Amino acid sequence: MKDTLRDPLKGWRTSFPAALRSSIIKLKLPLAFCALVSISLLLYSAFPTRPAPNFHNKPNPVSRLHVATAAPPTNLSHIVFGIAGSASSWNLRRHYSALWWRPNVTRGHAWLDAEPPLNESSPSASSPPPHRVSADTSRFKYTSTYGSRSAVRIARIIKESFELLEAAAEEEKKKQDDVRWFVMGDDDTVFFLENLVTVLAKYDHEQMYYVGANSESVEQDVIHSYDMAYGGGGFAVSYPLARELVRVLDGCIDRYASFYGSDQKVQGCMTEIGIPLTKELGFHQMDIRGNPYGLLAAHPVAPLVSLHHLDYLRPIFPDTTRIQALQKLMESYARDPSRALQRSFCHDLRRNWTVSVSWGYTVQLYPSLVTAKRLDATIQTFKTWRTWKESPFTFNTRPAAAKSGSNAREVPPVLYFLDSVGENVGGESLTTYRRHVAGLDEGKVRNTGEQQAGDRVLAGVRAVHVAAATMDPKTWTMAPRRQCCEVIDGGDGADGGVVRVKVRGCNPFESATLP
Ligand SMILES: *[C@@H]1O[C@H](CO)[C@@H](O)[C@H](O)[C@H]1NC(C)=O
Ligand SMILES: *[C@@H]1O[C@H](CO)[C@@H](O)[C@H](O)[C@H]1NC(C)=O
Ligand SMILES: *[C@@H]1O[C@H](CO)[C@@H](O)[C@H](O)[C@H]1NC(C)=O
Ligand SMILES: *[C@@H]1O[C@H](CO)[C@@H](O)[C@H](O)[C@H]1NC(C)=O
Repeated sequence: MKDTLRDPLKGWRTSFPAALRSSIIKLKLPLAFCALVSISLLLYSAFPTRPAPNFHNKPNPVSRLHVATAAPPTNLSHIVFGIAGSASSWNLRRHYSALWWRPNVTRGHAWLDAEPPLNESSPSASSPPPHRVSADTSRFKYTSTYGSRSAVRIARIIKESFELLEAAAEEEKKKQDDVRWFVMGDDDTVFFLENLVTVLAKYDHEQMYYVGANSESVEQDVIHSYDMAYGGGGFAVSYPLARELVRVLDGCIDRYASFYGSDQKVQGCMTEIGIPLTKELGFHQMDIRGNPYGLLAAHPVAPLVSLHHLDYLRPIFPDTTRIQALQKLMESYARDPSRALQRSFCHDLRRNWTVSVSWGYTVQLYPSLVTAKRLDATIQTFKTWRTWKESPFTFNTRPAAAKSGSNAREVPPVLYFLDSVGENVGGESLTTYRRHVAGLDEGKVRNTGEQQAGDRVLAGVRAVHVAAATMDPKTWTMAPRRQCCEVIDGGDGADGGVVRVKVRGCNPFESATLP
């Protein structure tokens, strides 16, 4: 969320050799340590705001469901977006906003520090989303030694958005009565709009709500806060809360002058008002480094609402650019928004195979029987955000492959990635997933004997076809439950190497239990 800050950092990151970085990490010199801490803080506080996928799937203790009121259900036109950007990053990042912004439908603006430079090779000034230049913030205090003053400007986006709306209503001599939520995000946040609406519609917009999620990396939560909605993952503030927040926000900005990030300053105000964060597990700050595969393949049982930090991670599909990969995910998302990334596990007891579906993204096929408990844990294909360590995260992980010499006998799965999304037929979608030959971590994990054995067993399985009925968004107002699946047939040779799987609601007393 820190505009001017991000780009310098980005330059730093890419020009700073990994070897040097790791040698600094190893040096226990206090100075080097301080420098490292500040730089790292810059790095990821630069992208605060992302919801931690909480793989425990604990029911949200503070979720208060919208109890039927007279108000019509919340839809997209009730939401005003405030996107934090900067003139220097706008032309490099606006393609992320363009992925989800719907011209003349989505309301709100990207807020920049200045008019962005335009040239022939940059997209036209009028391409979405529309932008505005933020008000001057030089009168405010900012004393964080490792951050950027742009945090002040970005913290005030919600206030400027609110005031813009009130001014427009004033001009038309009417009461502002159609905006229910303000949703904040970064210029590198991708929102999944139907699911954002599904999630916000659960809450009574006439009450004061602050909805979002914290960081996946525990080190981040320790430094910045466990109780804060990380700005890059995006967060939503209901209108009545926004009204109170904008009254005190400028004071908070000065009172919390030492806080690094805009999202921390906003949360400082929230604690003064006394409004806790309502955590929603579909907001993703993505405070991780490396390959996001494992995290996306183990999404919590909650609608996918946002993704962030995609410039800092490998493309979510192999052998493609970041944007193409996101467009691919958007294809399946568009077919069945509520089901995007939702998981199902099933076992084929005839052959002792295990199937794990992450709908619209990937299928994992194991040539062995794997427990649901194990499948549920996130395969760790990434490191922590700030220090690039193996742990800890705010959810359970399992290694991408058995370390050589370890006793773990688990055969790594063979991976299939979304290939095509068929037309809906009779309310059912057909998604196909194609075998991917390299491993989870760029081939490194594929060299074990176990892996080769797994590959041999499943060598004939070229693709997996998954049929699933379109999921009703109302499913998300009910108690969460992972759906069930069954292996219909295939993979025996006579079928062109296609395993067919059906994903469906579970029957009474059905569970993914091994014999
Ligand atoms: C959203 O709901 C409002 C009622 O609050 C309605 O007037 C409007 O047409 C709806 N918009 C869409 C796009 O459904
Ligand atoms: C959005 O609305 C403006 C003015 O009403 C119109 O000129 C423009 O073509 C519209 N854009 C799209 C993509 O519909
Ligand atoms: C023009 O914009 C592109 C980004 O769209 C940027 O990469 C390039 O450096 C810009 N050129 C100049 C001369 O500013
Ligand atoms: C499947 O595993 C069970 C033990 O869990 C074993 O008894 C059985 O023979 C295996 N079946 C096949 C086809 O490998």
